[in-house]
Amino acid sequence: MSSAPASASPHPDVKKVLFDEDALRARVRELGACITRDYAGRRLMVVGVLKGSLIFMADLLRAIGPEVDVHVDFVAVSSYAGSASTGTIRVLLDLRENPEGRDVLVVEDIVDTGLTLSSLTETLRARRPASLEVCTLLDKVSCRKTPFQPKYKGFEIPDEFVVGFGLDYDERYRQLPYVAILRTP
Ligand code: IMP
Repeated sequence: MSSAPASASPHPDVKKVLFDEDALRARVRELGACITRDYAGRRLMVVGVLKGSLIFMADLLRAIGPEVDVHVDFVAVSSYAGSASTGTIRVLLDLRENPEGRDVLVVEDIVDTGLTLSSLTETLRARRPASLEVCTLLDKVSCRKTPFQPKYKGFEIPDEFVVGFGLDYDERYRQLPYVAILRTP
């Protein structure tokens, strides 16, 4: 079986690779070290937002040291049709565990307008966790429509549509092992 990396040549629909596998691995390791330091000796409920956080979450979990007692849960949310201005979300899949009194870290692929995460964190905060923070891989800071600030972030990116490493366009490209800007169709 060949051991050639899957990313040897970029997908033909890709215009530019923003972060390759090495850059992603290095940054995820740094984020894991930060989270390990901040939550050492505590129990942490790490909540992945499906589906975009899938690959980031898997790598981030493995970068968090054994000093943290990690528990894993997931949510899936979708925006209501026409909700771009309100940011109201619909919870499609809810937590299995009760977050009340727990340290909760929400893991997301990208923050764009910030509406999804401000609505999700408001919903979660109503359940009275002991603490609630957000870790996002990517942050389009210039696109904010609400003053939302994740505590942990991998990279700030410009206002470009990106895919790969879990992020999709119409459910495609999630498996790409890098983050890339798509060619305009
Ligand atoms: P927000 O509510 O505008 O912050 O949007 C966050 C969600 O929009 C993310 O969880 C993604 O699902 C999606 N999204 C925003 N920008 C991109 C992108 O560049 N590529 C893929 N998905 C994106």
